[in-house]
Amino acid sequence: MAKPQSRADPVGHLTDDRRVGVVDADELVGAAIHRASVTENSPNFNSCANSTSALLHLTGLPFAHHDKEKSMEMDDTFSNTSDNQSFEEILSAHMSRRSVLVGGLATAALTFFGGSAASAASPKGQIEAATRRVAKNPKIGFTSIPLQSSPMPTIAPEYTYSVLAPWREKLDGSGKSYPIAGFTAEQQEKSVGIGHDGMWYFGDEKSGLLCVNHEYGTTQHIMGKTVPQSLDDVRLSQAAHGMSVIMIEKAAKGWKIAKSDKNRRIHVNTPAVFTGPAAKSDLLRNAAGNPVQGTLNNCANGYTPWGTYLTCEENFNGYFGSTSSTWKASAEQARYGFTAAGFGYDWHKFDARFDLANANYANEMNRFGWVVEVDPNDPKSKPAKRTALGRVKHEGAEVVEGKNGRAVVYMGDDERFDYVYKFVSKLPWKKAIAAGKSPLDEGTLYVAKFNEDGTGSWLELSTANPALAGWTLDKILVNTRVAADLAGATKMDRPEWITTDADGYQYVTLTNNTQRGTTGRAGVDKANPTAVNTYGHIVRWLDSDKNVGTTFTWEIFALAKDVADAGGQMFGSPDGIWADKDGRVFVQTDGEQPGKQNDQMLVANAATKQFSRLFTGVKGCEVTGVAVTPSQKTMFVNLQHPGDGDPRLSNFPAPYTGVGGPVPRDCTIVITRKNGGVVGT
Ligand code: FEO
Ligand code: CA
Ligand code: CA
Repeated sequence: MAKPQSRADPVGHLTDDRRVGVVDADELVGAAIHRASVTENSPNFNSCANSTSALLHLTGLPFAHHDKEKSMEMDDTFSNTSDNQSFEEILSAHMSRRSVLVGGLATAALTFFGGSAASAASPKGQIEAATRRVAKNPKIGFTSIPLQSSPMPTIAPEYTYSVLAPWREKLDGSGKSYPIAGFTAEQQEKSVGIGHDGMWYFGDEKSGLLCVNHEYGTTQHIMGKTVPQSLDDVRLSQAAHGMSVIMIEKAAKGWKIAKSDKNRRIHVNTPAVFTGPAAKSDLLRNAAGNPVQGTLNNCANGYTPWGTYLTCEENFNGYFGSTSSTWKASAEQARYGFTAAGFGYDWHKFDARFDLANANYANEMNRFGWVVEVDPNDPKSKPAKRTALGRVKHEGAEVVEGKNGRAVVYMGDDERFDYVYKFVSKLPWKKAIAAGKSPLDEGTLYVAKFNEDGTGSWLELSTANPALAGWTLDKILVNTRVAADLAGATKMDRPEWITTDADGYQYVTLTNNTQRGTTGRAGVDKANPTAVNTYGHIVRWLDSDKNVGTTFTWEIFALAKDVADAGGQMFGSPDGIWADKDGRVFVQTDGEQPGKQNDQMLVANAATKQFSRLFTGVKGCEVTGVAVTPSQKTMFVNLQHPGDGDPRLSNFPAPYTGVGGPVPRDCTIVITRKNGGVVGT
């Protein structure tokens, strides 16, 4: 392969006491960082940041700066031109809503929005009465820290963190990493990928399997060049995507990757299978007859009561492109955001699978955009793409056990004006598993309609829906967005993660939507009430009939622009979200923060809706992914694209030294309370 630009990581700034001899720089970094427990109150590097600016000017390195706005454009290009839920309809619904509410439904909504049951003259048996409990009021006692713009993280003074599983660390448990100079696809397939995102931990307080998504890495970050120049380059980029399954253990000096035959990488060329109603669809076959392979842009995640991990394919469109100047997107391709140039990965120039103009691979594009189930305990099992859950830009997959033990999966489609989905399994999950079936292969898919009055409905996406007359089920599942347009779903402000709290509420982060209410775009509605929604919001709902019903009630949990402390507005662009069993809601950010400061993780009180800031990331990173040990006393969180891959902004996990320092590495952060308490208290 073409030689990467020279940017070897120097060893001179490591704090590890084994910083001697001829050991490769990257191996040292890898070995050192999971031992070096970085403590709270890391120095504020604002002054270093200033000198970074000077270096930027002096060095002129060829880093294509990963501009936040640009990255968000990549994430959420507008493609929903359907006319469901137009502004006029919303307005007219708004004007007349009070007159159409009748009986229990109206009273239920009123109660949900804070009116007491008595004042609403509430009859019994209303929508939320069966599910709503008194919200827990958890203990959140740590010192909320200020926002930061430093090249190193900060954490509340009662807490500490260490670093685990950085990009390029070998999966063999040696603690060593492959050096960035000369890094190959073969090495990447045997080491931790880049772009750490959603994850889950299957284990106890001392050891277990950590599944970590690897959403993406820029070509510049991975190989030090802006575009691939060969198929070898493309294979390296492909190997960096996907996910890792790694055995981790708590050693004397902190958590580390352990040797295990369960450790494996799943990437863009890993053999995979399709299951469920669309598995045998012609829409998933190519004339080339190539086998099903790979997963990519693995964003958020889910985990199931039967012990498996769900990894979700988000912005898959951006990895495809066209080698033909005459290629034009079909209506379906446009709805999923395919363009001739893609996001600039240029895989299509060397790998025909990703060339939209190659008729032999015409349906390869349909093979991505799925929720993929992985059995972390069976390293020989193939990732299974569960077609019953539909094909969208899947953010995550929140699984709850519904009525009669059925599996219910809540999912966001992250794009401006896209939708929230729910899948309900046909069989109780235990019955399906006992019969050797996946609970996720048979069931009903729905899309959410948020009414103006605080109620909502789940619109069925099946051949039984008159709006989908003439559609086959496989077409609905492959072109789910188009089916949801026809069904009349509510256009949301970029649905990201979904979580379920101790009281049964599902929360969805709606990260931002600067096009809301602008010319030619959908206007504000009650569920998306901010025109030009720069900072995003969080909506929560209570589903009906123990999560298998077709109605729900909802409310706004937080408008980010209105959440403030003494320092002003606290956050923007909520993305990762996870609720613990005690009423704490952890909220992570990816995008514009107040004062353009670093992304962060906050803890909200589900009962009072008050926020405290626990952790701030480094310049250029997003904070994403959350998993805990069973006691909740150890939490795993990811820092994705620290410094946007640019050592001028951050060298994390290495201490900041600027342009001469190491290329920053995506990694997992292990957070504990110094007194050994539950994280978030
Ligand atoms: Fe991968 Fe929507 O964040
Ligand atoms: Ca996300
Ligand atoms: Ca993100």
